[in-house]
Amino acid sequence: MKKKQKNILPRKSNTLKLSFDTSWTYAPAPESRTSATIQPRYDLFINGKWTKPESGKYFETINPANEETLSEIAEANAADVNKAVAAARNAYEKYWKKLPAKERGKYIFRIARMMQEKSRELAIIESLDGGKPIRESRDFDIPEAANHFFYYAGWADKLDYAFPGKKTASLGVAGQIIPWNFPLLMAAWKIAPALATGNTVVLKPAETTPLTALKLAELIQEADLPPGVVNIITGAGETGAALVQHPDINKIAFTGSTEVGKMILRAVAGTNKKLTLELGGKAANIIFEDAPLDQAVEGIINGIFFNQGHVCCAGSRLYIQESVANTVIRKLKDRIETLIVGDPLDKNTDIGAINSKKQLETIHYYIKTGIQEGAEIYESSCRLPSKGFWCKPTLFLNVAQSSRIAQEEIFGPVLAILTFRTDDEVIEKANNTPYGLSAGVWTDKGSRIFNMTRKMRAGVVWANTYNKFDPTSPFGGYKESGFGREGGLHGLMPYLHLSNLIPNSTRK
Ligand code: NAI
Ligand code: MG
Repeated sequence: MKKKQKNILPRKSNTLKLSFDTSWTYAPAPESRTSATIQPRYDLFINGKWTKPESGKYFETINPANEETLSEIAEANAADVNKAVAAARNAYEKYWKKLPAKERGKYIFRIARMMQEKSRELAIIESLDGGKPIRESRDFDIPEAANHFFYYAGWADKLDYAFPGKKTASLGVAGQIIPWNFPLLMAAWKIAPALATGNTVVLKPAETTPLTALKLAELIQEADLPPGVVNIITGAGETGAALVQHPDINKIAFTGSTEVGKMILRAVAGTNKKLTLELGGKAANIIFEDAPLDQAVEGIINGIFFNQGHVCCAGSRLYIQESVANTVIRKLKDRIETLIVGDPLDKNTDIGAINSKKQLETIHYYIKTGIQEGAEIYESSCRLPSKGFWCKPTLFLNVAQSSRIAQEEIFGPVLAILTFRTDDEVIEKANNTPYGLSAGVWTDKGSRIFNMTRKMRAGVVWANTYNKFDPTSPFGGYKESGFGREGGLHGLMPYLHLSNLIPNSTRK
């Protein structure tokens, strides 16, 4: 029997007086690190070849769970961005644009199938590079990424039927910049619809999590995609900015912070570049007194602690109807005690490592702010590993609507809890943030769900569930959460010119 894991013991619970201390625990179940091949150094993937950076510079990507270096990654400068954009332009004009749509679809299907074949290795690398639990990368990130390629492969030769009465045309070269919270999935969200609509791509992954995008480049090479159709360049903010500013880009797709999103909006203003932005969020998860409470508590836990709260649509504000507030809070406190925080490669782990030192500092800053603002903090009593970047699952009680932890994005495993009495009150409170990406409603009443979903300014509203995704369903926000939609039929539009099939003048 393994040594007892302290962090699974319930604390301060009236209901759980069972003798957990002597009974059960989970034995470690680590996924094998040896099933993944990571090269000691990665160059840039330009025009179908691995290309040394003009900058001559490399930076390290680490495993945030133990701070060990995983690989050295090329840092692309403006000259490298030029090369990548030129390769994408050439591939677009000479080949991709002219290829019959059915053939494009075949390439995308091939990538999807190869991703499935390599899913185990991709999941391990995703967890090593970003810190997320293997259970999530294995069961969510990688299968969802492959699903996006499958879904958009199907659209490639059906674009004429997607928008009745409209003629579709590709845009050209798409510059795509993605964050570190769902590295491969975000790459799939960006690349699959761009290819299906006949565009070519230059993609830049985030500097802390470049590895699965580079593995995808290997796979794209193996799939024999024509050189230059997909180029993957690595680097930090400066590389991203050079891509945004490049004059030969037709479309920019960005997912990341609202701050950088605003900078990109300014940089693109006055050009012909199309733009979609998927930015931050501060989602309200709302529990009414008639909700199935145990189910709702699980949904709330999933909503905020899934992927360490590194989720733009995380249910980071919880509104509980006053009559059930004490019960729900007690259940939440009990439940966070049972969450296992630790090795991302262990299949039992619920909460992995925080993605970077910088992100951990941001989270700590907000925890301090919450305390200073007078909210009551409640943390799990789990022990954290001594190396790496970790944060205990944290609840804040008695939070004021105006406080910063109820208004600003924390992007960590920290839940702000507020209460309400009436439907109108909670709608007003839920809508009272600068964001509008997602929300959740827990109630037994169908009419209440429809009333709430109509009145909440959020791109996605989940009812009696949370954080559910599907490639067929569009995703995106209002207000400072950005604009444009990814996923589904809507996700094709930002990569197409649509014109009327029958000119207006000839219409009767
Ligand atoms: P960030 O917005 O700086 O990074 C996202 C991507 O943008 C990365 O690939 C980065 O290299 C690139 N980038 C940075 N500066 C750029 C620039 N000037 N021009 C073009 N590209 C640029 O996000 P960061 O600093 O890593 O995280 C900060 C906060 O952003 C988090 O605490 C969280 O609140 C939010 N965030 C939101 C995400 C979402 O999914 N909406 C994802 C990641 C972060
Ligand atoms: Mg890393």
